[in-house]
Amino acid sequence: MKKNATLLLLMVSLFATAQQETIDQKVNVLLKKMTIEEKIGQLNQYTGDNSATGPITINPNKQAEIKAGLVGSMLNIIGTKYTRQYQELAMQSRLKIPLLFGQDVIHGYKTTFPIPLAEAASWDLAAIELAARVAASEAAASGIQWTFAPMVDIGRDPRWGRVMEGAGEDTYLGSKIAYARVKGFQGNKLGDLNSVMACVKHFAAYGAATGGRDYNSVDMSERMLFETYLPPFKAALDAGAATFMNSFNDVNGIPATGNAHLQRDILKGKWNFQGFVVSDWGSIGEMVAHGYSKDLKAAALSAITAGSDMDMESNAYRYNLAELVKEGKVSVDLIDDAVKRILRKKFELGLFEDPYRYSDEKRAEKVLNNPENRKAAREVAEKSIVLLKNDNETLPLSKNLKTIAFIGPMVKEYKANMGFWSVELPDLDYEKWVVSQWDGLQNKVGKNTKLLYAKGCEVEGDNKEGFAEAVATAKQADVVILSIGEKRDMSGEAKSRSDLHIPGVQEDLVKAIQATGKPVIVLVNAGRPLIFNWTADNVPAIVYTWWLGTEAGNAIADVLFGDYNPSGKLPMTFPREVGQIPIYYNHFSTGRPPADENSKGYVSSYIDLKNSPKFPFGYGLSYTKFNYSDLKLSSTKIKSNETIKVSFQLSNTGKMAGEEVVQLYLKDKFGSVVRPVLELKDFQKVKLNAGESKTIEFTIDKEKLSFYNDKLEWIAEPGDFEVMIGASSADIKLKSGFELN
Ligand code: GLC
Repeated sequence: MKKNATLLLLMVSLFATAQQETIDQKVNVLLKKMTIEEKIGQLNQYTGDNSATGPITINPNKQAEIKAGLVGSMLNIIGTKYTRQYQELAMQSRLKIPLLFGQDVIHGYKTTFPIPLAEAASWDLAAIELAARVAASEAAASGIQWTFAPMVDIGRDPRWGRVMEGAGEDTYLGSKIAYARVKGFQGNKLGDLNSVMACVKHFAAYGAATGGRDYNSVDMSERMLFETYLPPFKAALDAGAATFMNSFNDVNGIPATGNAHLQRDILKGKWNFQGFVVSDWGSIGEMVAHGYSKDLKAAALSAITAGSDMDMESNAYRYNLAELVKEGKVSVDLIDDAVKRILRKKFELGLFEDPYRYSDEKRAEKVLNNPENRKAAREVAEKSIVLLKNDNETLPLSKNLKTIAFIGPMVKEYKANMGFWSVELPDLDYEKWVVSQWDGLQNKVGKNTKLLYAKGCEVEGDNKEGFAEAVATAKQADVVILSIGEKRDMSGEAKSRSDLHIPGVQEDLVKAIQATGKPVIVLVNAGRPLIFNWTADNVPAIVYTWWLGTEAGNAIADVLFGDYNPSGKLPMTFPREVGQIPIYYNHFSTGRPPADENSKGYVSSYIDLKNSPKFPFGYGLSYTKFNYSDLKLSSTKIKSNETIKVSFQLSNTGKMAGEEVVQLYLKDKFGSVVRPVLELKDFQKVKLNAGESKTIEFTIDKEKLSFYNDKLEWIAEPGDFEVMIGASSADIKLKSGFELN
């Protein structure tokens, strides 16, 4: 039996190698036929004009250039009709090299899933992979072969609007999610008609922008880069990611786009990445603005030398590479390497056999937004919701309530539920296609429940004229649901905020409604951690609903009425005030750690604020209760080549079935460099029925004990370790320890 399996494995790998050799042979044959202009054309990517995702450069010759074989890829060309039209232009070129069509399919193509940060709050890797799978199947049915996702930037600063696009602050969780998203987008293999190429971005450390201000500089030690910011990229690469995208920011003084250390030494060298790197929008040309390149020609030289294979929308390669080759400043080998990387992917996608295979209207009609996909979107949305507070068991609501008031500027919103980076398909009737929060409530309650609505106020501005009507409406109800938050486009790219409080007078509205004495539930809609201290301290129930996509209203109603028991946990720390930022759970101790959140004096704290966050990383409540007990370690002393089995009992001691994300944290008590006060090293999302108990097991191995020392060696050092099992990073239920010899 074993022999057959080995034989089969050998045959499969031989076949794959043979297939790759065939592709490499085809690439080399084609390359030999190409002029230098046609080679450079493959490195050139333009945007369509359907939806700009960056500063547009007007170029009326795009279509002519495609026909002349001077364009290798387009982005923002939406749908089967337009992609087919543009592909037909490419088929008129001398060598008929097909175009790649890329799109920011970040959290859904037509069926829109929760924003990625919300999905990260589910801690459900299967759900996250499913969301990417559905997105890929819909995009690939619509002419797209390449999504510019997953974004895997570690985000420790909620002022940065793009935290909405990633997986939060933690390297371990972010790496697991990066892997799942690549697997979801790319499926079994590239070339399948329900798979698209992933594009891991933004390489690298874009989330560490100084001041949380988008596009701003990044400066960090190589150790921090390797220990905190690079692992999710490596995880994505290990998942087989086909492409990478570099980032706008400079890293330690060199723009990522022109950064050979990042792209050649690490990505293509140490990690042996065989795919291709696309620049971010115009980022090659932006090296002039960085003050790194004298002009566009110098930028082109830096970028191609540093390993940027494709130029998105800066025209630097289009207008300068040929001359640089002629001047002997750029070797044709560099160009050929980049061209081969791109052509290999076009062969793998089957585009040379059939350039139109992804632009299939019939398949699009069957796949886009079908009931199965919407069901998936609703399930992922439910799992992404985080219950932050539920005093006096205010939730779940009874379905026999007589009157419910639903108040606030988000209640009847449609497009807002999409969050940033939803795909702006043409002619979308959002009111028909999205389930608003109001629709969701109407779908949920029976005919005996009366629903009342008042807007109360706008998201922004200081107009309180709507308060009187809102208060009067609240007074008629048995319970009040208030839906407040940011606008959809207050987070995302170029959406950094210096102030993270709920905008406008919305918290004043909460106060006015709370003063009626009615039970109040607040829903917070946002693309990032927000600050709402008064609400958090005074309102009995708070549900963080992020932006949940097409099925938002149904998913929220499912949670509010207990048809889904909330299971989300925060993937980012929520600060009390902006002044605490950057604030994240796995910080170093310092020499004067505060004893608790109120410690003052000669300790590392603020004289005007508590030290703790408002809500910690990994935090989220359930309608049921979980008990943790009976922690056991298989050993309290191990050698570096040995492992420890950690086990404990998890019991559902409440009245409802529910899921709990149990978190394994480790603390290396001392090391050759200071170590975090605790670090997430594993987790499991466990579903238990009421009264059910289960033994949960984790394995601690050398990998989980290792870190980069000051020589950048990945090592596990002998010493004492603490083992913690937590319901969050600040709620450690069980603790033990062991020694590494
Ligand atoms: C944008 C973003 C990048 C996106 C690209 C194409 O500026 O930074 O994430 O994929 O341009 O839209």
